[in-house]
Amino acid sequence: MPVINRIAEYFDDMKGWRQHIHAHPELSLDCHNTAAFVVERLREFGITDIHEGIAESGVVAIIEGRGDGPTIGLRADMDALPLQEKTGLDYASTVDGKMHACGHDGHTTMLLGAAKYLAETRNFSGRVALIFQPAEETVGGARMMCEEGVIENFNISQVYAMHNLPGMPLGQMNSTPGPAMAAADEFKITVHGKGGHAAMPHGTIDPIMVAVQIAQSLQTIITRNMDPIEKAVLSITQIHAGTAGNIVPDDAMLAGTVRTFSADVRDMIEMRIGVLAQQIAEGFGASATVEYDRGYPATINSPEETVFAMKAAAQVVGDDNAKMDIPPTTGAEDFAYFLEKCPGAYVVLGNGDSAGLHHPEFNFNDEASPIGASYFVKLVENAQPAAR
Ligand code: NI
Repeated sequence: MPVINRIAEYFDDMKGWRQHIHAHPELSLDCHNTAAFVVERLREFGITDIHEGIAESGVVAIIEGRGDGPTIGLRADMDALPLQEKTGLDYASTVDGKMHACGHDGHTTMLLGAAKYLAETRNFSGRVALIFQPAEETVGGARMMCEEGVIENFNISQVYAMHNLPGMPLGQMNSTPGPAMAAADEFKITVHGKGGHAAMPHGTIDPIMVAVQIAQSLQTIITRNMDPIEKAVLSITQIHAGTAGNIVPDDAMLAGTVRTFSADVRDMIEMRIGVLAQQIAEGFGASATVEYDRGYPATINSPEETVFAMKAAAQVVGDDNAKMDIPPTTGAEDFAYFLEKCPGAYVVLGNGDSAGLHHPEFNFNDEASPIGASYFVKLVENAQPAAR
């Protein structure tokens, strides 16, 4: 496959960087050593315009091209997971209970590979903003970087990212225009009744009965309130109440998760959960407190940029291996925040026959690094060709 020749020559370097990052995983916003490693490499490549400490340990580095033009953003996540590694690799995690089990070590490496090439060749106009982001797995490093003004401050006009995908053959890439990954929200409902002796229920307001009615009714939001062409998941994952066989408790709690692909459906479900919980409780003489916590929004690829991205992918992996037929998934991804502010696309890259993401035996496939780095470079050179 036509990986850029010069990038193929970086293979051993990239493998070294990746395995170093793999051996030294860091969590959430605390990616300081990874960021320092990244900055050291960028300086070696001759990149000097480097901004550190964004979202605590995030880095944005600018490479100037030849001649005026816009700025294209390329993003990689850097954080690992709180998991005990069981790969038995000679470069396995050196930190107990922390592991690169989602391949962000590989994502960071691919962006470094692209940075080395772009800094060496500068065969583009305008600027490239390299975005190295912490806390994808936890508090939304992408949201924080956006709140700190990364898109506006660096004048980024389009933004791209990729994720490896176990089970997809090495050398394949895929994306989907429009919604690609779900918004992930959580809710908690507390029903306040009136406790008492279970042998004399008429003197109580039984919160368990109310909670059960609410649990059943919430499923009608998906089947009765939502356009059947839309997709969403509402799962109740906890019901807690009571302490003994002869006591009606005061309160009952239920909680769960909501996954949606559009802002309208998300707003509707949040609203209906509130109305149903409160009014059902009221109907029984109880009351309900509803907490709805919004997590990452849906990852929505802008259609034009998705087609553009997959054309760049096809130049690297061939037309037959660059597809736009992957269905949306109910997983979530904080690159969504960048896509809310700026057109762009999120693509997946085959990791071959490996253990799944977030599994203690997962490992990023080093053979994928030159492919991903070449893809990033093609995006830049196609979007912002060098002035003649
Ligand atoms: Ni990930």
